[in-house]
Amino acid sequence: MRRLVAEVRIHPADLILPVFVREGATEPIPLQSMPGVVQHTQDSLRAAAAEAAELGMGGIMLFGVPESRDATGSASLDPEGVLNAGIRAVKEEVGESIVVMSDLCLDEFTDHGHCGVLTADGVVDNDATLEIYGRMGVAQAEAGADMVGPSGMMDGQVAVIRQALDEAGHQDTAILAYAAKYSSAFYGPFREAVDSQLTGDRKTYQMDPANRREAMLEVSLDLDEGADLVMVKPAMSYLDILRDVAEVSDVPVSAYQISGEYAMIEAAAANGWINRDQAIIESVLSIRRAGADTVLTYWASELARWIKEGRL
Ligand code: PBG
Repeated sequence: MRRLVAEVRIHPADLILPVFVREGATEPIPLQSMPGVVQHTQDSLRAAAAEAAELGMGGIMLFGVPESRDATGSASLDPEGVLNAGIRAVKEEVGESIVVMSDLCLDEFTDHGHCGVLTADGVVDNDATLEIYGRMGVAQAEAGADMVGPSGMMDGQVAVIRQALDEAGHQDTAILAYAAKYSSAFYGPFREAVDSQLTGDRKTYQMDPANRREAMLEVSLDLDEGADLVMVKPAMSYLDILRDVAEVSDVPVSAYQISGEYAMIEAAAANGWINRDQAIIESVLSIRRAGADTVLTYWASELARWIKEGRL
């Protein structure tokens, strides 16, 4: 009866699996701070994507970990670069069965670890970064991305990427805008996942956790600029924001259950302090209940398997 009257559910098609692909890796490399998550080789990436498709998941979101980095993140534009090669491999593997998405940001590719290029004073140069984002979007679409996910929080990024995609003939490539993205301590384990070189912080471009109203401004700007989906990130400490956004957005709303959220539950469960599976389900249900249509979660494949087995 509880199942019959449940107000929200988790369905595999609502889930998006974030994955890391590492240049030069000959076998999957486990991440210490995210037990169960790896940096993939191109081959293990293909296998993960094929499994996601078989489980009927909504999509897969790729992050690249390059071997060499420079000041402008030029490897992000290289058609043979790790991320673009990964997109091509995944697209070849899954075809049209799930949505192939890619992170559109420079932080994995720059030697200073920021999401954009820097001015002489060492601060992120918003407009110079936009120009690169536009070219990055085209490179990813050309590699086969169905949807690009600009996550750098530069002002005007959605408009610039939309225009660049359209001009290059990629009108059908969609944009998942990281619209309300907060400057969060919970990204910690992700920085290990992408071998981040960042020494400072992202407070000049990511949002202040104190701000609620500002999220609505960020979302409305991205919608005006042509976002096809909008995202709130992180999820757990921002469920109020997610609810606000869900109430006004005419496009689908995503939430990203990020690395720190994953790590906290895994760590507490490993100590026997919480029931792992129940905590995972409860956390994702809360994100759906707050208003997310789709959820990016590192547990996506596991959840989809549980659903298939009728455990959920
Ligand atoms: C930026 C990006 C980050 C995450 C996704 N995209 C890191 C950041 O903004 O510092 C974090 C995801 C996670 O923590 O799981 N490319």
